Amino acid sequence: MEERVLVTEPIIPSVIEKLEEHFQVDVGNRGDYNDEESLIEVIPKYDALLPMLSNPVTGEVIAAGDRLKIIANHAVGYNNIDLETARKQGVFVANTPDVLTESCAEFTIGLMLAVARRFFEAQRYLLEGKFEGWEPLGFLGKELNGSRLGIVGMGRIGTAVARRAKALGMDILYHNRSRADRQIEKELEARYIENVQDLIPKSDFISLHCPLTEETEHLIDEESLENMKSDAILINTSRGPVVDEAALAEALHEGTIGGAGIDVFEYEPEVHPRLQTAPHCLLTPHMASASHKTREAIGMLAANAIIDVLEGKDPSEIPNLIQP
Ligand code: GLV
Repeated sequence: MEERVLVTEPIIPSVIEKLEEHFQVDVGNRGDYNDEESLIEVIPKYDALLPMLSNPVTGEVIAAGDRLKIIANHAVGYNNIDLETARKQGVFVANTPDVLTESCAEFTIGLMLAVARRFFEAQRYLLEGKFEGWEPLGFLGKELNGSRLGIVGMGRIGTAVARRAKALGMDILYHNRSRADRQIEKELEARYIENVQDLIPKSDFISLHCPLTEETEHLIDEESLENMKSDAILINTSRGPVVDEAALAEALHEGTIGGAGIDVFEYEPEVHPRLQTAPHCLLTPHMASASHKTREAIGMLAANAIIDVLEGKDPSEIPNLIQP
């Protein structure tokens, strides 16, 4: 019997073609599997699942997967997957590290620049016909050069952001569960701050690159927003629930922080209505890895893990397996 793979949404076609060389592949329509019930209904037919981060691969879904051998997430973050149940059932789980690091870091710097130098407000002003010539006091912003960047989560993406930020003349502070290796600190002239709440008031920009866990949920809450500098800019390209979105919206409306660039939301795809009208705030639809090249590499890495597992390769030779 030919093995069957479910890809929950259309992805870059060359990835689907690659999987089709090995298996029978079904591809869902956009949004078909954003709820648990629809996955539970179909999962018994499949040997492998290639889900998006918007698909809740819960314990119930995995338990219903009688033939399921591998879940290869189309993302580096895997908070949508119940790892514990997968481990108990002996189902392999893979993610897509490394391939999206540069794309996400580049996008993060883009958000910092766009918010600090007010690109989107300025374009709106121009298109509304308000531009009447060069203005000495028009759109004064904040420079990255000479500013201090506080990075929360110094993993692959945080480090790649720090490298770019240093090249732009920023001074780097960082917080991470464990201290980065001294060589990296030296290269980036980055200072480790053991307690994240001590990093917040010292930073002109704060960029979040931590995974979503019980410890990081609402890490940026009302209190930490109050501790930010009054002109600090918050950037979030990690996971929405790391920030209390309602509290962020209030801080922006009240002008107690300088601005925000937000790519991920607490209740995606919903965006808090107060955030939508907040000043100095650039909102983008969870797209930090969205370049053609990177999305193809993400898909290929996930597809290769499926091919390797279903074809019986030694798991220790599959680099992007998270477990078992
Ligand atoms: C995107 O958010 C990812 O985790 O890859």
